[in-house]
Amino acid sequence: MINRVELEGFTIFRNNVIDFIGPGLNIVIGKNSTGKSLLFKLLYSVIYVLHRKGELNKEELRGEMAKKIKNVFMVDKIGRLTTRIQGNKRTKVTIKFSHGEIVFEFSTRHEKSVDITKLEVDRLQDAIFIPPKEVVSMLSRGFVSLYEDYQIMSEVYYDLAKRLEKPLPKGKKEGNIADLLKVLQESDLEQLDRIYVKDKEFYTYVAGVGNLESKLLAEGYRKLLMLIYLIKNKEIKRGAYLFWDEPEVNLNPSLIKVIIKIMFLLSRKFKMQLFVATHDYFVIKYSDLIAKQNKYPLKFFSLYLNNENKLQVENAKELYDLKHNAIIEEFEEVYNLDAQIIMDHVNKGRV
Ligand SMILES: Nc1ncnc2c1ncn2[C@@H]1O[C@H](COP(=O)(O)OP(=O)(O)OP(=O)(O)O)[C@@H](O)[C@H]1O
Ligand SMILES: [Mg+2]
Repeated sequence: MINRVELEGFTIFRNNVIDFIGPGLNIVIGKNSTGKSLLFKLLYSVIYVLHRKGELNKEELRGEMAKKIKNVFMVDKIGRLTTRIQGNKRTKVTIKFSHGEIVFEFSTRHEKSVDITKLEVDRLQDAIFIPPKEVVSMLSRGFVSLYEDYQIMSEVYYDLAKRLEKPLPKGKKEGNIADLLKVLQESDLEQLDRIYVKDKEFYTYVAGVGNLESKLLAEGYRKLLMLIYLIKNKEIKRGAYLFWDEPEVNLNPSLIKVIIKIMFLLSRKFKMQLFVATHDYFVIKYSDLIAKQNKYPLKFFSLYLNNENKLQVENAKELYDLKHNAIIEEFEEVYNLDAQIIMDHVNKGRV
């Protein structure tokens, strides 16, 4: 599990320390351009490489780390990620895991490798990154080979597509997985449990309609389908790290509730550490309520710029303990505006 991240001179993170919880759900909020995606992409890249570390010597690891970060961020050289403020030329990243630590540095001049100054970490479990857009519907049209020829998107899309290409194991579902997918039955979403893949096309069976290919499935369902499929094909494994950037995209609040429940179950039954970046009121509210009801481990993080335009990170176990909450502040503003309009109507005798 990631216990602590220390960032110095990494993009918008000039000097920040973040303490995560795990196993459990870490929810990161903040206005646009406050570094949520940058943070997740960095952590994902590092864990991705460390998971495969067994096959690499230290020299190879320096190059692989830079290569993965470059491909995930789509920058030409790793030095582009050093904070652009006068006088700063270096980036230092420290990640403390429950079993070990990695420290690496690079400067604006670094292109193809990082300097690893500390490497005391066991092989880590794998990391999965779910970006805002779904990829399920692109697989049968050759997304993987298209990416291999032309790196048109962040490598997180490619990594996810490769995972989705792994077939489902034969035989009965394991108890843990069956327990998790019960949430689908309870929510009248059994059709998302009935997935099969033929020629890289995903199908679900819908009662009364028959088999539906993913392209005909609602966008929101396709997102949930990715998560379900990754659980079923065992790409999401016990102890894994899951990063999900804006799960709310295309989802109605009723589906958001389902996803939050599944994420908490993954933390409890699969001992996973999960990271969610969101702008959504329902994501934070349902997480807060469901965690309280069931005593699930949850921590909120708010990224915001202070008066000097410097990024700050605040955290709290309870939603309303956050002093800077870009979502709730906006919610209150719209609520007050609504109340004002109703009062105006009342005063004019229209209600
Ligand atoms: N090398 C750099 N130096 C300084 N700041 C940088 C650097 N690279 C990126 N940034 C800043 O980081 C911001 C992007 O952060 P990020 O994409 O993580 O935002 P976000 O919180 O995910 O926003 P959204 O909610 O819109 O997705 C950029 O808008 C830019 O201001
Ligand atoms: Mg983002």
